[in-house]
Amino acid sequence: MRYTYYGHSCFLVETNGKKLLFDPFISGNELAKNINIAGIEADYILISHGHVDHIADCVAIAQSTGAKVVCSWEIYEWLGKKGVTKAHPMNTGGQWHFEGFSVRCVVAQHSSGLPDGSYGGNPMGFIISNEEGSFYYSGDTALTLDMQLIPRWAKLNFAVLPIGDNFTMGYEDAVEAARMIGCNTIIGVHYDTFGFIKIDHTKATVTFEKAGCKLHLVEIGKSITL
Ligand code: NI
Ligand code: MN
Repeated sequence: MRYTYYGHSCFLVETNGKKLLFDPFISGNELAKNINIAGIEADYILISHGHVDHIADCVAIAQSTGAKVVCSWEIYEWLGKKGVTKAHPMNTGGQWHFEGFSVRCVVAQHSSGLPDGSYGGNPMGFIISNEEGSFYYSGDTALTLDMQLIPRWAKLNFAVLPIGDNFTMGYEDAVEAARMIGCNTIIGVHYDTFGFIKIDHTKATVTFEKAGCKLHLVEIGKSITL
């Protein structure tokens, strides 16, 4: 599986011939100013929750790529009013088999208002599985005991977790999350974008190393294969 980082919590995973884009927030991110939205290809766009730093470029990229959007029922309805009709509504606890991969929606301990104040439903995390393996994207979340359920559903190759603190768990809690989910290969997201979530990269990396885990802090615009 190939992971490409577009800044904040936006990333693309290419697996099994499909391109899955998560939480597109690029145009409003100063750190991602070199990313050309028009150049992004996607077959699916997965939205963890309604906050603007996860959905800002969803409509534009859905329209430019023709990708199918996977999101909560409430976000599905909201996107529909904005002209995005190629979408698949889900909710926490649900699983669906798409072409080339399955998605299981899991609990995220967060909130989910949409940019215009509309209710966005439950915030969610996703477990993606196929013949190449499985990975977990937690979305914005606190450390939560619900994460202990994840190993029952999937043996993870890697996980994408927020580490920026203030709005989500910080890197110390993310280490604990790595233990709960039974995965020692972690990609950090949701850090450095704004003043509230700036982190010390060395401290974060060492904290993971001490726990026997590898934290990947991928440069914006760069890819890694896992
Ligand atoms: Ni959020
Ligand atoms: Mn966020």
